[in-house]
Amino acid sequence: MTQSILRGVGSYLPEKILTNKDLEETIETTDEWIKERTGINQRHVAAQNEYTSDLAVIAAKKALNDAEMSTQDIDLIIVATTTPDYTFPSTATIVQKKLGIKHGAAFDIQAVCSGFIYGMSIADSMLKSGSAKNILLIGAETFSRILDWNDRSTCVLFGDGAGAFILSSDNVSDFGILNTLIRSNGEHRELLYVDGGPSKSEYVGKLRMIGNQVFKHAVKDIASIMKECAESYGVAISDIDWFVPHQANQRILNGVAKRLCLNDEQVISTVSIHANTSAASVPLAMDFAIKDGRIKRGDLIMLEAFGGGFTWGASLLRY
Ligand code: UT7
Repeated sequence: MTQSILRGVGSYLPEKILTNKDLEETIETTDEWIKERTGINQRHVAAQNEYTSDLAVIAAKKALNDAEMSTQDIDLIIVATTTPDYTFPSTATIVQKKLGIKHGAAFDIQAVCSGFIYGMSIADSMLKSGSAKNILLIGAETFSRILDWNDRSTCVLFGDGAGAFILSSDNVSDFGILNTLIRSNGEHRELLYVDGGPSKSEYVGKLRMIGNQVFKHAVKDIASIMKECAESYGVAISDIDWFVPHQANQRILNGVAKRLCLNDEQVISTVSIHANTSAASVPLAMDFAIKDGRIKRGDLIMLEAFGGGFTWGASLLRY
């Protein structure tokens, strides 16, 4: 049986750290408010000459190293990003060039914070159909570039970073990606969007969000898709070893955990140190928990995300 197995994981965070205290100097906010309402203490911010593709390439090299594979083994690159280097070409083709790969294919996908879960769904289908053998799936973002740094209700929430998976086809059973569900609903665009774009405004735009309304949708939709993802594969939520969520807000993580009666210790949280890195959140958190020894080979893991669109999804994986 062909399965998509996770052979390697890597991530990268830009060097510069922006703390809540730093933000107190520029906007009307406090470290206490940010910590209490979001759980965030700090976020990483890309240097001026550091682009999404640069973060992606470093994460990709670390994932290749972890998988003990070379760039030449990769026959498809998928980059999930909302902050591409250019409107075109895709960031994936720029990553391809920077990695010295001239064969196969590369493309971007855009599902905002759910981009990595969407990418897992696409990668899984392409591996199972035989369209690719070894996929480099990256979530990479420089959200600092689309934030309105005068809007305290949004600029404190996000950070920059990248995470990467190497996914390969293999003949195994009950291993690798077991089940991925993706969903969207375009009705709530005005609750979370960027107020610009090439076709509508010829300007990149800045992120706008009515956070408290997004919050309610996020908790409900995430809890429901996680349950559906587990049950449609034939396992119970209580069978899962680790939950690797999108890192938007610690209160969202707690809300979902409460609804599904999860043990808080099983929920990987990096929100305090990474903030919300959009499509990079999930692979960054996964890498973090593998490196600190919590997630081990053979563990059953559920990944999930929710973001602009709205888009959301969950993926069940045996690592
Ligand atoms: O990844 C995509 C998905 N994104 C999310 O899931 C984000 C979901 N939303 C959230 O995480 C939360 O709703 C926020 C963290 C954005 C906001 O927390 P909240 O508890 O929902 O606060 P609120 O928006 O209801 O605002 C409460 C108060 C307001 O003041 P008034 O109107 O009550 O006087 C805001 O103006 O907090 C004020 N406020 C701030 N105060 C200090 C908003 N931002 C700040 C700030 N510092 N940075």
